Amino acid sequence: MRYSDDLIEEVRSRSNIVDVVSQYVKLQRKGSSYFGLCPFHNEKSPSFSVSPGKQMYYCFGCGAGGNVFTFLMQYENYSFQEAMKALAERAGIQLPEVEYSREARAEADRKALLLEINKKAARYYYCQLRSPAGAQGLHYLKGRGLSDEIMQKFGLGYADKFNNSLYQYLKKEGYSDELLKDSGLFIIDERRGVTDKFWNRVMYPIMDVNSRVIGFGGRVMGDAKPKYLNSPETKVFDKSRNLYGLNIARSSRKKNLIICEGYMDVISMHQAGFNNAVASLGTALTSQQASLLKRYTDDVLIIYDMDEAGVRAALRAIPMLRTAGLRTKVVDLRPHKDPDEFIQNQGREAFEDRLEKAENSFLFEIRILYEQYDMTDPQGKTDFFHKTAERLLRFEDEIERSSYIESISRIYGISQDMLQQQIRKLAMKGTVSRQMPEETRPQKPKKEKVSGSDTAQRLMLTWICNYPGILTELGSNLKTEHFCNPLYREVAEMLFQQIEAGEINPARIINHFEDGDIQNEVAGVFHAVLPLETPEERKKALRDVVCNMRELSIKTRIAELPLTDLAGLQKLMVEKKELEQLRAQFPEIDM
Ligand code: CTP
Ligand code: MN
Repeated sequence: MRYSDDLIEEVRSRSNIVDVVSQYVKLQRKGSSYFGLCPFHNEKSPSFSVSPGKQMYYCFGCGAGGNVFTFLMQYENYSFQEAMKALAERAGIQLPEVEYSREARAEADRKALLLEINKKAARYYYCQLRSPAGAQGLHYLKGRGLSDEIMQKFGLGYADKFNNSLYQYLKKEGYSDELLKDSGLFIIDERRGVTDKFWNRVMYPIMDVNSRVIGFGGRVMGDAKPKYLNSPETKVFDKSRNLYGLNIARSSRKKNLIICEGYMDVISMHQAGFNNAVASLGTALTSQQASLLKRYTDDVLIIYDMDEAGVRAALRAIPMLRTAGLRTKVVDLRPHKDPDEFIQNQGREAFEDRLEKAENSFLFEIRILYEQYDMTDPQGKTDFFHKTAERLLRFEDEIERSSYIESISRIYGISQDMLQQQIRKLAMKGTVSRQMPEETRPQKPKKEKVSGSDTAQRLMLTWICNYPGILTELGSNLKTEHFCNPLYREVAEMLFQQIEAGEINPARIINHFEDGDIQNEVAGVFHAVLPLETPEERKKALRDVVCNMRELSIKTRIAELPLTDLAGLQKLMVEKKELEQLRAQFPEIDM
């Protein structure tokens, strides 16, 4: 159900962002804004700002930002509808009764039926494993050291050697082919009809956090290929938003959660008492899974396979976990391959010991970096040293950064002074400073790094928002078409319209964008900063920004011009002349 724009706006305008955020974050007033520790990443000095004027928040550290809806969506993992409900209730606004359309109800009913089918299938497999037909499966699982108790806890089962036992069973239970088809448990072939997807495999039911069976993994007994077969995604099975074992691990009361790669790893760890282990579902860890973890813990241990693929997977997961605000460490199991193998060979105490010795994820990243360079070669050494300085620069917190500098200088025998110097030099260049590394930012649509020209356009939008008077004074010297970045142009169009209508309301602009990551980016647009002390500095900066934007816009249009369009080219040349004049004689504008 979609609420009307007016209703959304009413709820938003009656939910003061400072009050709402204050329920979660301790805020302190500084000038016209409030500051606090960012709830979306780890930091020790406040870079999270909330502006009552703009009714937006923005973190200068991690780039999280948005309006009051986005805040709840990010903080509480709410959907937009849920955020809307929570805020409406808080503000005492009655929302219209949710009227389920006929389609919505049919959809809900269908999901319920698919869950029912999954549950029945899980029970069927479970019973099979414990029947004479399941002897081989039971033998296999016992051979892997699993107790009856743990098999029961994870609901393990067995799909027998016939290729349609489950189908016949569920048909007898009265389900239609049409419905069974959507369960992902069957293969439909024009010639052979309907057959079971899983046969002659031990079965691992996959459950959501509420212990509802949403899919299955099935393993061959032996070395045949493929080793694992998984249910496809269905209406009730989203592989990117669920984690195997989380239904149990969520209430483990341990100080962290362990993320590993395999079903057997999870089960082995649980059997050995590490009931805080979870795994992704045969795919790489996703940002949604990272947020899911964050609902239950602040600390994660990564235990991936000790091979090249595992290291790569860890390097991809770390920034994702970091962005979700999780502290992360990496466990080393060498010489063993995975947790299951380690526990079978060395037992639980040795395993516990490895968990204790887990390596800080930043130091892990640096160690892997180190292994990529030839340290006997001066060039290799220098490159490693530069890259390391660049990574260190990304810590905003001085204390945190210097403690990493200290560790790294100790581990790699680089002098602390040299590292400090190199970091200062990089910071002066301003290329990387304060920008989170691309890969650790909240995921955005694929795009290049924020370029100089983007920065200029962002500054312009921030300024217009803070000093709307400059727009009038600039007059035709600044138009929306001068914003080359399409997203910024769209924002500029809305902002210019608001100014014309006499009401600036950036928080409202955010609602126009549905994608949360784009909302973050738009919030960032209104929070560009350039430390400018004197009015002269500001004036000069304004001239530069306007002129540079226009220059880029002319260049872009020239590049896009068809070769034969001479009239168009002439027009642009005139514009270029005008720009030169403008640069020489820029209007006096107060800001
Ligand atoms: N996987 C998969 N399909 C495969 C191989 C693996 O979906 N053909 C997924 C499964 O979720 C598996 C995980 O990747 O649990 C890890 O794979 P792997 O390390 O090969 O399996 P293990 O968990 O070690 O399995 P086992 O110990 O049973 O050999
Ligand atoms: Mn294994």
